[in-house]
Amino acid sequence: MKITVIGAGNVGATCAQLLANDELANEIYVVDILEGIPEGKALDMYESMPIRESDSKIFGTNNYELTKDSDIVIQTAGLARKPGMSRDDLLVANADIVSSCIRNAFKYSPNAYYIIVSNPLDVMTYVSLKVTGLPRHKVFGMAGILDTARYRSFISMATGYSMQDVQALILGGHGDTMVPLPRYTTIAGIPLTDILSADKIDEIVKRTAGGGGEIVKYLKTGSAYYAPAAAAVQMVESMVKDQKRILPCSVLLQGEYGYNDLVLGVPAVLGKNGVEQVIELKLNDAEKALLKTSADHVVTTNNEAMALIKL
Ligand code: LAC
Repeated sequence: MKITVIGAGNVGATCAQLLANDELANEIYVVDILEGIPEGKALDMYESMPIRESDSKIFGTNNYELTKDSDIVIQTAGLARKPGMSRDDLLVANADIVSSCIRNAFKYSPNAYYIIVSNPLDVMTYVSLKVTGLPRHKVFGMAGILDTARYRSFISMATGYSMQDVQALILGGHGDTMVPLPRYTTIAGIPLTDILSADKIDEIVKRTAGGGGEIVKYLKTGSAYYAPAAAAVQMVESMVKDQKRILPCSVLLQGEYGYNDLVLGVPAVLGKNGVEQVIELKLNDAEKALLKTSADHVVTTNNEAMALIKL
C-alpha cells in the first residue's frame, strides 16, 4: 500500500502521522510546493516510527513523480479559513490549488482512489471528479465523519455517556447548511430523542453546524486538523482493510435523494473498491427540505468553481 498525502500543512501532516502510527501503508509520501517543509516533517515522523513500533516509511517531497502508482491519494492542500471566513470564501484560491494538485497527482497515479479534504469540500470534490474524469467510487470527500464526530462529541458532553456508544448520521454539504439527523441518532440503540430534550438537541445541532468555525475562532490563524485528519484516516482504514463500514462521505449523486451530478454528504459503504454503495434513507418532509437548502447552496458554489477552472 502506497499512500500520498498532498499538502504538508497541519491536516496533511497529521494524516500522514496517523496513517503511519496505524501502519495503514508501507510507504507514505507527503508532497507540497513549500521547500523543505515536507522533507523535514516527513523525516521527523519517520524517526518516530521505531518508537511507535511501526514499519511505515514516510517521505516528503516537492516532486509528484515520486508519488507514482499510489493506491490512495489524500488531497489536503489549500488555504484554510481565518476567523470570520466561510468555507466558500476559500473558493477562488482553492479551486486553482486543488485542480492543479489533483492534475499533478493523477498524472502519476491514474489508478488511485482520491479522498478530498480541501474546502469548500463538496465543491472541491466535484472539481476533482471533473479534472480526473474518474468515476464516483474513486473520487470522494471527507466531511461527514468529521461533522458526525463533532455531533457525537457534543452529545457525549451533554449526556456523560461514552462517545463510542453515540451513533449518528449527518447528510448534506459540509457547511452551515449541513443536515444532522436526530431521528437517526442513538446512544447504545436508544433514540437520542428519548434521552435529550428537543431544545438541547437543537442546541447541539447548531453547535455542530458551526463546529469548524468554533475551532477557527480559537486558533485564529487556521482551522481544525486533528479531527479532520482522524476522519480522513478512518476512510482509508475502511478501504485498506476492506471493512465495508457505513460512513458519511461526500459522494457524487446519480439520482439518489433526487439529485444528479452533485456532490453531497450521504451514508456510503467504503471498502477496497472505494465507495461501494450509497445508502438512501427515507427522509421526512422536513429533512428533505433541509437537504434541498444544502443542495441548492452546493449547486451555486459548483457553478462558480467550474467557471474558475479550465478542464
Ligand atoms: C472544519 C473545516 C476543516 O470543519 O472544514 O473544521
